[in-house]
Amino acid sequence: MWGGRFSSRPADIMQAINVSIGVDRRLWAQDLAGSRAHCRMLIDRGIVTAADGAAILSGLDTIQSEIEAGTFPFRDEYEDIHLNVEARLSELIGEPSGRLHTARSRNDQVALDFRLWVRDACDRTIAQLSALQHALLARAEQHAGDLMPGFTHLQTAQPVTLGHHLMAYVEMFGRDASRFTDARARMNESPLGAAALAGSPFPIDRHATALALGFDRPMGNSLDAVSDRDFALETLAAASITAGHLSRFAEEIVVWMTPMFGFASLPDDLTTGSSIMPQKRNPDAAELVRAKTGRILGSFVALSTVMKGLPLAYSKDMQEDKPPVFEAMDALDLALTAMTAMVTAFTPNIARMAEAAGWGFSTATDLADWLVREADLPFRQAHHVTGAAVKRAEALGVGLAQLPLKELQALHPSVTEAVYKVLTPEASCASRQSFGGTAPEQVRARIAEWKERLA
Ligand code: ARG
Repeated sequence: MWGGRFSSRPADIMQAINVSIGVDRRLWAQDLAGSRAHCRMLIDRGIVTAADGAAILSGLDTIQSEIEAGTFPFRDEYEDIHLNVEARLSELIGEPSGRLHTARSRNDQVALDFRLWVRDACDRTIAQLSALQHALLARAEQHAGDLMPGFTHLQTAQPVTLGHHLMAYVEMFGRDASRFTDARARMNESPLGAAALAGSPFPIDRHATALALGFDRPMGNSLDAVSDRDFALETLAAASITAGHLSRFAEEIVVWMTPMFGFASLPDDLTTGSSIMPQKRNPDAAELVRAKTGRILGSFVALSTVMKGLPLAYSKDMQEDKPPVFEAMDALDLALTAMTAMVTAFTPNIARMAEAAGWGFSTATDLADWLVREADLPFRQAHHVTGAAVKRAEALGVGLAQLPLKELQALHPSVTEAVYKVLTPEASCASRQSFGGTAPEQVRARIAEWKERLA
């Protein structure tokens, strides 16, 4: 492509370090879309004749058919997807092919192709997050009133419902989706027409190509257009946060599936066995969802490191932008799909969870709250009395609800029989009617709101 200035071919090592077609061939559809939009604009502006333009467009159609049929010759000597398409176009239509690159550089071409790919990836991710939220909503609705222990420090804290727990993730994945939506909106400006870095002397119409490719407008500065990859970084940041949420949930599934917890199981087709231990059922899918976080966050670190010291405008370093983004978005795609399958298929052990909801003096706060309400104690004093009750129950080897009334009265005289009504996990949950609390009515109200939001 640049033979005019060069008198020898690239050394093997030059080609080896430079070649990117193995990675960026994934941009073929975006590359063809960009070339078509650019070509039509060149025709409309009289920069390329209608006849040459038609030859180019039909050559691009042939290339698309070849790629779809698997017969397109992807060749390392043409370095990347852009030069591979250009070389093939030249073989197919001859001289007019050389006119397609008028008023265009690979710099704005790759910035465009990559932006289009990342934009599609955001759209896919938003759809997958919505599917995961729908799966969670269905399960939360089934279990809006089923008890489980709520933890802090992974120590028993207060009873909650399984529906409430699942709805926590609906909120998280909702914010994740909105991060991708925001990123998409910010990236939706077209770099095409920035050319190499300074713009073009040809009478191009950047607004027309932007519109044709679904962008809101052309980017306002040609240097910025070819040299920033913040749209990819922002997407990777959103992906990393999403991966963190997925990982926490995956960790809970792993814990819930241990026999010691026994809170949940996954079906055969979403677990694996052991080659030596016949009893095993391993939550590999959950573990791998948890592990994908490393790849995804690693990709963010990789790309920010590539970008951080580059002077304006384009540097070849930026060719290293695509592997981390492809890797991260592939990993996120798998993780979201696997998590949706697990959410849909897991079987909670309702009886076990409900029983565990009462363990570990989980209604101690309810006793303290009762003392505040019924005996008018300051909360700090109620906390102290309740602590003593827990200590006494522990010594006697019983739960709070089994502690005899006279034991409680010995700690504070105003305790009455009525206190036992608040000491069950059911009563504890039912009482938490504050907005966003775990009372089943509250959980059902949030489910209804989310269904409307996602409809
Ligand atoms: N394959 C290159 C990349 O991904 C395309 C842009 C090349 N531009 C250049 N001036 N060498 O970044």
